[in-house]
Amino acid sequence: MRKPQGKVAIVTGASKGIGASIATHLAAEGAAVVVNYATSKAGADRVVSAMATRGGKAIAVQANVAHTAEIERLFAATEHVVGRLDMLVNNAAIIEFRPREGITEEHVYTPCNVHLLGPIFATQHAVQHCGSEGGSIINMRAAASRGPQPGGAVSSASTGALESLTRACANERGPHKIRVKAMRPGLVETEGVRAAGVMESPERTYSTSRAPCGRIGQPSDIAMVAVFLASSDSGWITGETLRVQGGVR
Ligand SMILES: NC(=O)c1ccc[n+]([C@@H]2O[C@H](COP(=O)([O-])OP(=O)(O)OC[C@H]3O[C@@H](n4cnc5c(N)ncnc54)[C@H](OP(=O)(O)O)[C@@H]3O)[C@@H](O)[C@H]2O)c1
Repeated sequence: MRKPQGKVAIVTGASKGIGASIATHLAAEGAAVVVNYATSKAGADRVVSAMATRGGKAIAVQANVAHTAEIERLFAATEHVVGRLDMLVNNAAIIEFRPREGITEEHVYTPCNVHLLGPIFATQHAVQHCGSEGGSIINMRAAASRGPQPGGAVSSASTGALESLTRACANERGPHKIRVKAMRPGLVETEGVRAAGVMESPERTYSTSRAPCGRIGQPSDIAMVAVFLASSDSGWITGETLRVQGGVR
């Protein structure tokens, strides 16, 4: 594989889970990585120092991607420290299940801002920062956006819109050599999934029983595919949403 040596990536929501694994795999392949987080400074610092001990280059930057001013600060910090951008992974998300009758205005705004406003404005900044060689943008969708679980309606709807965003941005940015893709992982064991109680829920048993691979995913299952999608080896892939779900339909 053509390694992302010398390239610069921003991974949003990389203090833990899938984002941390993507950041780690990109750094292992030679990219300099901006590890974004909202609240978990200790987690982001751990990810950065684990990369550094293996010779990787990374910095942690706090920014809540639900706010445009903070997204602007994230890109300004990247420009200041590393001076270029080649890859953006819009990964940050809130994993939350809430019964329909318990949904308030706030429970709609927050996931929509993190899952949709964040990628829209991060993409807006990224395309300005990518140079003449172009770049690669990956949007992470929730698997449930095609088969929402009980209590997952708002979360699923907000992340489902990323598929349209991906296609539209791919069309717009294609002539500028910027490829935009989405990934739709199946159930992956992460801190967020554990905190939401999914590992003890019927969803876990259901996902395992339907998976030809016979197991749920681990963050590295997703990260390795993300590195391929970010690299120039996937140069003829854009506008697509790739399912990485262990064969679950
Ligand atoms: N795990 C699964 O089964 C699964 C399945 C399908 C799709 N996905 C997708 O994969 C992605 C990662 O999921 P995960 O399971 O790894 O989640 P996770 O373990 O809960 O990690 C979420 C990450 O997002 C960050 N984050 C949350 N709100 C943020 C905000 N407003 N601004 C910046 N960062 C923010 C968190 O940072 P802090 O800790 O600092 O708040 C954390 O680093 C998500 O897009 C999710 O929809 C996951």
